[in-house]
Amino acid sequence: MTTKTNPKKIDNLILESVEKVVAQNINKIVRDIKTEKSENEESESEEEENEKRIIKKDNCLTEIINGDSLEVLDKLERKYNLIYLDPPYDTGRVFQISHKNKLGFKDTWKDNEYSRWLDNLIEKCVKVLKNKGSLFFHISAEGSFPAEIVLSKYFSHIEKIFWKRCHGKNTVRNKLGAVIDIIFKCSNSKKSKFNLLRIPLGKTTWAFKNKDSRGNYSLGGLRHDRTRKGNKYTIERNGQIYDAPNGWKITKEKMEKLIQDDRIHFVNTKKSKNLYKKLYEHEHKGKPLSNLWDDVHSITRSSKDPRLYPTQKPIKLLQRIIELTTDENDWILDPVAGAGTTGHACAELKRNCTLIDKNRDSFEIMIKRIENLNL
Ligand SMILES: C[S@@+](CC[C@H](N)C(=O)[O-])C[C@H]1O[C@@H](n2cnc3c(N)ncnc32)[C@H](O)[C@@H]1O
Repeated sequence: MTTKTNPKKIDNLILESVEKVVAQNINKIVRDIKTEKSENEESESEEEENEKRIIKKDNCLTEIINGDSLEVLDKLERKYNLIYLDPPYDTGRVFQISHKNKLGFKDTWKDNEYSRWLDNLIEKCVKVLKNKGSLFFHISAEGSFPAEIVLSKYFSHIEKIFWKRCHGKNTVRNKLGAVIDIIFKCSNSKKSKFNLLRIPLGKTTWAFKNKDSRGNYSLGGLRHDRTRKGNKYTIERNGQIYDAPNGWKITKEKMEKLIQDDRIHFVNTKKSKNLYKKLYEHEHKGKPLSNLWDDVHSITRSSKDPRLYPTQKPIKLLQRIIELTTDENDWILDPVAGAGTTGHACAELKRNCTLIDKNRDSFEIMIKRIENLNL
């Protein structure tokens, strides 16, 4: 026996089922949205937990944040002219300031964890770096290889600075003493900000052994070598002709002016007839800074730059990096700030700065250090 079903009834049944499914799905979507929202709210409240202190000195700000940089960097809203990173170097050591005092940080990592962490950190740093900004990455020469690989993934322009952090080590017996740190200067623009710095001339590099009434001077060559074309002319003096086979580096007018001003040194011997520019010691602006920095000394127990934290870097080193690539009122970031040496140098040089460290002790040291600065 077959029962005859009313088609209208079937339609109603179908409609009811569809409504039921739609309602269930809507409920599920609403539930999902609610859960997602409360998870976000939780992480937002976690975000707020990063303790932060802002100190104003001489119209410049130092922002000090206690937290893991991998999280904090995502929340930063400004872009920086310079980022200085002196992270743990993957030494497998635990650094503490003394045998009794555990103040410091752990530098122990599992397998490839270090390279992954570094990659994450640099990727996040690049996002908050200005187009013409620079990132300086500090590492021991021994540990520099993995860092160079990561950095070359994110930067098109990389220069190496060799910092001779100490003289030889007496304790080394079966290997070469490690005295060099490498500081990678990285950017993504040919036109990144750069201020040429000069350092005083070392007596050993320049011999100012000549002397006249103005003072001691060394000799600056004026003849071009074979690889360039110079200014062709001769100079006559006391019946002697002075010539340059490949030309002179300066024009005849300039040469005559220098001769009149007694700034040209004449060599007239049997072997040589030549002209040199007198380079006076008291007028010298210093030599342009090279990529070998051997005039900045590490922090020692006795130094004027007091030691507040293990692996702390000297203020002079940070001053140099900051002056080289930023101007007054620029913003600088140090995401692994330790004792806040970057902040100290920034405040003295009238730059604004953000310092981050996950170590609570470091947060307190930095606040005290910046607050106590007498500017
Ligand atoms: C070599 S120290 C920096 C020293 C600093 N340049 C100075 O002059 O005092 C490295 C610092 O990185 C911090 N650090 C390591 N991992 C971090 C992370 N994920 N987020 C924030 N800080 C971190 C450590 O707590 C340590 O203080």
